[in-house]
Amino acid sequence: EEGWLIYWTRDVEDEATRQEEKRKTSEKSQGCSEGGHEQGEMEAENVLRKQRHWEKQVAAKKSRRKEEKLRRKMNRTGTEHQFTKRVMKAITKERLAEARSTGLKLCVDLSMTDCMSDKEISRLAGQLRRLYGLNKKVTRPFHLFLTDLREDSRLYRECVRMNDGFLNYTMDITDESCLDLFPPELVIYLTPDAEEALESVDADKVYVLGGLVDESITQAGELSVHTARLPIDEYMVKKDNVKNFHSKILAVNQVFDILLTFCDTGSWKEALQMWFSPGKGYVVAGGDSNSII
Ligand SMILES: C[S@@+](CC[C@H](N)C(=O)[O-])C[C@H]1O[C@@H](n2cnc3c(N)ncnc32)[C@H](O)[C@@H]1O
Repeated sequence: EEGWLIYWTRDVEDEATRQEEKRKTSEKSQGCSEGGHEQGEMEAENVLRKQRHWEKQVAAKKSRRKEEKLRRKMNRTGTEHQFTKRVMKAITKERLAEARSTGLKLCVDLSMTDCMSDKEISRLAGQLRRLYGLNKKVTRPFHLFLTDLREDSRLYRECVRMNDGFLNYTMDITDESCLDLFPPELVIYLTPDAEEALESVDADKVYVLGGLVDESITQAGELSVHTARLPIDEYMVKKDNVKNFHSKILAVNQVFDILLTFCDTGSWKEALQMWFSPGKGYVVAGGDSNSII
């Protein structure tokens, strides 16, 4: 009996242990599924968060695009002269082509370049580039001629080398002289040494600038044509300066700047004030815009 009791007690104990283990396993598995549920919720939350973030980004991009579109539209309507580069280029080309038939005529006489140094040739090529550059920018450009310019000359080669697009410049480049091209009675050679001051710029005349850098050489005097100087004595006075330097001789592009501005404004005073180099020791005299001293 005692033995049976012992066996029975062991059985009961075993069963209790089995039950306990079963409960623990069941609890464990229950706990596991709760954890899995939590993890699933976290993943879903992550997906939602990502989706919200993505939606925000799309909305921001959309509004940026809308703003940009509006800004461009305002630019177009607000400033009527805002043309694209391509349109500007086409307008310039059109103006220069028009100038070839109706523009005021200006020649740069390049017959003296053979006796110039290489340095002077380079400087002259730079001055021609600036002269053409300004003519391109204005509303009413001149019809420009580079005369006595041979293709095998140093100046021609230097212009091609230094001046971008020189071969496509809208101007007449010729090895003929200005007096071969135009009747002498129509030619007005501009020179600082002339007695007469230039008063106006007329459509039926041809204005000639000497393609020289050296201020001591004069070309105009050797030709039997009408000469004129810029009206510096009429509108300007000497200005005191340390070196006591005063010169009325300008580079070709500077003379051209003054002519263009005079044609645009009708005022010598304004043109000289704007372009006469301050280093030359002259200033425009006071008074009305076109009053002569
Ligand atoms: C550097 S300058 C040469 C100066 C040279 N002694 C001469 O008399 O031709 C170049 C050219 O610019 C023009 N020029 C310069 N200063 C001028 C002025 N004050 N009046 C008229 N033309 C001028 C002339 O056509 C001149 O030939």
